Amino acid sequence: MTDVRFSRVRKAFGPVAALAGLDLEIRSGEFVSLLGPSGSGKSTTLNLLAGLLDADSGDITIGGARVNDLSPDKRDIAMVFQNYALYPHMTVFENLAFPLRARGRAFDETQIKTKVEAAAESLGVAALLARYPKELSGGQQQRIALGRAMVRDPKVFLLDEPLSNLDARLRIRMRRDIKALHDRIKSTIVYVTHDQAEALTMSTRIAVFDQGHLQQYGTPNQIYHRPANMFVANFVGEREINFVNGAIAAKDGKANFVADGLTLNLADEKRWRNLRAGKAVLGIRTEAIKATRDDTGVSAIVEQVELVGPELVVYAAVRSAQLSCRADLNADLKPGDKVRLTFDPAHFHFFEPDGGVSLAGIEA
Ligand SMILES: Nc1ncnc2c1ncn2[C@@H]1O[C@H](COP(=O)(O)OP(=O)(O)O)[C@@H](O)[C@H]1O
Ligand SMILES: [Mg+2]
Repeated sequence: MTDVRFSRVRKAFGPVAALAGLDLEIRSGEFVSLLGPSGSGKSTTLNLLAGLLDADSGDITIGGARVNDLSPDKRDIAMVFQNYALYPHMTVFENLAFPLRARGRAFDETQIKTKVEAAAESLGVAALLARYPKELSGGQQQRIALGRAMVRDPKVFLLDEPLSNLDARLRIRMRRDIKALHDRIKSTIVYVTHDQAEALTMSTRIAVFDQGHLQQYGTPNQIYHRPANMFVANFVGEREINFVNGAIAAKDGKANFVADGLTLNLADEKRWRNLRAGKAVLGIRTEAIKATRDDTGVSAIVEQVELVGPELVVYAAVRSAQLSCRADLNADLKPGDKVRLTFDPAHFHFFEPDGGVSLAGIEA
């Protein structure tokens, strides 16, 4: 059992509360991403788990045993950083063997060769063992850094933004590789990233942080489709979510969301039937609003158009509000065009205007 658990863990640097009472449990074999903007407390959490920082208070356990007072080398974890410094004067083989030769380890040369070759094989770098780091691409170097963590066969892998030095295409390839690696070796992985797409694609669960506070902990599906508050709704997603200030109001016995220039019927969506009347903020993603030249829907004026490959993203004005929407390529929209917007109520999110907490609907 290698569950990881944080209970009421606090860490401050002088006046800065880097972590404000964290409760988090990670099950054995899970791939958990710590996601959030810069300075939100992700690395602090990871470094506390690694033993590179001491908690001010609270308990950290690995496999049920409290590790607060254990030195890093006694915690049976392996860490990979953003700057995957390989030893330049050592071959790939020697870089991979290094943790096995470290003081206090008792592996003979045959065991070392077996472990190094197994790690190299599972990362697809077996052909590179005789090379030096300068003869490798960035992606290959990062794989070796992962391999160096793997050879020790630790209970828990900790990765802190390991892909952020790679170019965009390679990052997408590597996240598939890391996911496949996790599916194979099934170790517990705690992965720090500020990249929501990385977190969504690789994780079994995601912990979203802001300013030292855990905002939500859930599966990628829950985080994306059921954000707990406005921060999570806006941070997760390819682009900023649309927020519209308005109110839930009953009209002719039916629930509507009403804002300036906008009345959206909620009656057909079971989830929203029991929302109470009152002020609310609607959150709706670009992909859930469609702009067309049809003659039904909310009237709007196109202000900007972006080509995003398979379709268009259109920024359209509804009175004083601007909403990002999607449109078909062949709609051929230009700034100034009149359009109609149709909204998908299944993808509405409603939040309290004060504090931004989700007004969760009934689960269908
Ligand atoms: N060694 C340190 N000394 C002082 N402040 C620190 C130190 N490490 C982190 N902090 C502060 O703690 C907060 C959280 O930092 P960190 O956990 O590194 O954020 P993240 O990894 O999410 O970008 C930030 O405000 C950061 O400036
Ligand atoms: Mg960090």
